[in-house]
Amino acid sequence: MIIIGIETSCDDTSIAIIKNGKVLANVTSSSTRVHEQYGGIVPELAARKHCTNIDKVFQHAIKIAKIKPNDVDYVAYTSEPGLIGSLHVGKVFAKQLAALLGVKIIQVNHLLAHIFSYFLDHDIKNLKFPFLSVVVSGGHTFIAINYSVNKYRILNSSIDDACGETLDKIGRLLKLPYPGGISIDKIYNSKKVFDLIKHSTADKEFSFSGLKTAVSNLINNLRQKKKKIDTIGIASSSLKWIIDDLEIKIKYYLNKYPKTKMILFGGGVSANSLLRKTFTKWRNTKFLFPTMQYTNDNAAMVALWAFLLLKYRGKEC
Ligand code: KG4
Ligand code: ZN
Repeated sequence: MIIIGIETSCDDTSIAIIKNGKVLANVTSSSTRVHEQYGGIVPELAARKHCTNIDKVFQHAIKIAKIKPNDVDYVAYTSEPGLIGSLHVGKVFAKQLAALLGVKIIQVNHLLAHIFSYFLDHDIKNLKFPFLSVVVSGGHTFIAINYSVNKYRILNSSIDDACGETLDKIGRLLKLPYPGGISIDKIYNSKKVFDLIKHSTADKEFSFSGLKTAVSNLINNLRQKKKKIDTIGIASSSLKWIIDDLEIKIKYYLNKYPKTKMILFGGGVSANSLLRKTFTKWRNTKFLFPTMQYTNDNAAMVALWAFLLLKYRGKEC
């Protein structure tokens, strides 16, 4: 079964081709550099970049995968959530392609695609329900319990900023290169960590705006007093705070749902070194992280989710 996946929910134009769950091609063109100068993604520019890039990305993917139009069985595309203009470019492209090829179209939730991305290069025989998923991306932070490929319940999600967004904003306050999440990962130093603010209790929803405000106040204070800003210390303490917060909440839900078979991480922040180090230290719990090439937005995960949906349809626990 050959599936073409299309991902355009944010600033990455990505098209992948998978055969029976295995990646034949996964081509991504990112417009990050366009947004760099603004310190965050500009939706209109992202949509325009998708328009100019999508056909080139598609041609490239087809060439790598060496497939013919008749080989394709389905076209899958990210239908939600995301930037409306960006999503629209992917939708129009997917619909036209499916009509041209005479194949069915599958709508894919971007967050569910992130959750299963570990299985892009790991045996799907190891996929066991129910499991806990932790999505940590630029736009979302949540913990869910997954009963099947498309049946899940969100247990906790951020009431304000997402953790990736928070790291990006703190990075900007510290004048670090965009995106802040990657910069903070690079400069993290455990010896420089100090206390910033208290954590809420495990049963409370994720909230990262307090951390962002605390960092902003601290930096403004230091600037006013013309004191030195300890960039590495503030960056490291912020990252540690976020990882500690995730740890507190994951522990809580693991205790609450002891029958969970594993914990799957997904989303850009799952590439973070401290996050991986922290959770791989836990014993007796199976934490699974996507390989680095699949932590960020990519179309392979979109196509894979469609494949899993078809394969596991009706198999719930
Ligand atoms: O999943 P993603 O590519 O896009 C969304 O769906 O939002 O995630 C992007 C986010 C950005 O906030 C970026 O700063 C963060 O992931 N990120 C990281 C790392 N790599 C990407 N944050 C911390 N450490 C990293 N190594
Ligand atoms: Zn994403």
